[in-house]
Amino acid sequence: MSLVIAMDGPSGSGKSSASKGVAKALGLRYLDTGAMYRAMTWWMLQAGVPVEDAEAVAARAGEPVLVSGTDPAAPAITVDGTDVSAPIRGREVTNAVSAVSRVPAVRERLVALQREIIGEGGIVVEGRDIGTVVAPDAPVKVYLTASEQARAERRAKDLAADPAASVTVTQAEQARRDRLDSTRKASPLAKAADAHEIDSTEMDLGEVIEAVVRLAKEQE
Ligand code: DC
Repeated sequence: MSLVIAMDGPSGSGKSSASKGVAKALGLRYLDTGAMYRAMTWWMLQAGVPVEDAEAVAARAGEPVLVSGTDPAAPAITVDGTDVSAPIRGREVTNAVSAVSRVPAVRERLVALQREIIGEGGIVVEGRDIGTVVAPDAPVKVYLTASEQARAERRAKDLAADPAASVTVTQAEQARRDRLDSTRKASPLAKAADAHEIDSTEMDLGEVIEAVVRLAKEQE
């Protein structure tokens, strides 16, 4: 049960679908760390905390009770007992999450929770800093990328129900989020030196899952 697969990469690279698929294929648990940052952001917005004010965010970061499910077939996350799986995917949270996730007090709290869940292993963990900070000893590390255009198209498809989410708007918002996530001081998005980079631009989901499963089997 010691297998930990770290899946890092920018938004829209296909991390979530690939991570869930790999977990199902190998009978592992699954942890979406981005959902934890989103849930923290949702709580800050609900509480009326000005999310651009890092001190105000840090002062309240210990308050929400976050519980993350680890079933890849039914990923769930609750905040203070409320299921927030749907609202954390909205544009309001999406556009505020980079401001909240750059705050060190937020990261310290969520990384501690993540390490507790990762525990003895048997899990696929997706995020931005899993291979570099959260689980630097993970035996399998993947850095998943795709062209900016391909990532924006995938995101826009995910947000098809939102009429404001055109490819152009999504691409601009995503570029802004990636810039903030990659340039922040605390654990920025980065490829670990020992991560396998997979460019999924020309790959379908099944091919990405197969490539990661192959890497995991090579570790056995
Ligand atoms: O993967 P996602 O788009 O749901 O992630 C939402 C945000 O959370 C992302 O913009 C950056 C932040 N994040 C992070 O800082 N560290 C992680 N390990 C995962 C996500």
